[in-house]
Amino acid sequence: MSEEEKTNKPGISRREFLKDAGMVVGGVTVGSLAFANACSKTTTSTLTSTQTKTVTPAPITITNTAGVYTDPVDGQTFSSLDAMKAHFNTVHPNGDAAIVSFTVNGTVQAFQVKPYWSLARVLREGLGLFALKEGCNYGECGACTVNVNGTAIFACMMLACEMEGATVLTVEGLSPSGTLSPVQQKFFDTEAFGCGICTPGFVMAANALYKATPKPTLAQVQQALSGHICMCSNLTRTVNALVGGV
Ligand code: FES
Ligand code: FES
Repeated sequence: MSEEEKTNKPGISRREFLKDAGMVVGGVTVGSLAFANACSKTTTSTLTSTQTKTVTPAPITITNTAGVYTDPVDGQTFSSLDAMKAHFNTVHPNGDAAIVSFTVNGTVQAFQVKPYWSLARVLREGLGLFALKEGCNYGECGACTVNVNGTAIFACMMLACEMEGATVLTVEGLSPSGTLSPVQQKFFDTEAFGCGICTPGFVMAANALYKATPKPTLAQVQQALSGHICMCSNLTRTVNALVGGV
């Protein structure tokens, strides 16, 4: 199909899209003048189709402003988190949302969550802890692993509403000062990573393993990492790196 025919069709041509997007196109030397001339033409394009996407609201993080907690639905304020939660559960008892609070990386956090939202979703969208990766989102890859009460768990398989009072540690909490923790240093020194997507999950699994078993054997490391996948095929190097502890 010629460019003219494309231009006459409803919608937007590829050329117009590239121009509007400000993209740099490879192979610009040959025919660059023609391309430049074509792109200098002023055109007005109207998108004829409308795409709609339903976006489920992100978890609402309950903020503590100078000791004041605000009900996210009716705006009433309270001097304690417990008082606000009691009010919320009494006044808005529809079961569609709940206030849950738990400790994340040393700080107590509270959220308004839907009953079906995962811990992974709340940590990423509510607190912006994006080191936690969502790979499969159904418990098959281990990329979302965090430590809950000292145990490695898949955050995509844990409901946020079940986290009341728990203590959660993510990769961000391992090195709050910016220096690598011993576990992270071990990964770094042994180059036990490829692209790095799976690495936060491996690090948190290793962190829980070392807490329980400071000098793990090969079999213990294999057991601890058995639920993890590395698409860079880096698993053998990672397993070998973790044997014997930090
Ligand atoms: S994202 Fe949780 S196990 Fe894959
Ligand atoms: S290092 Fe790339 S997926 Fe594991």
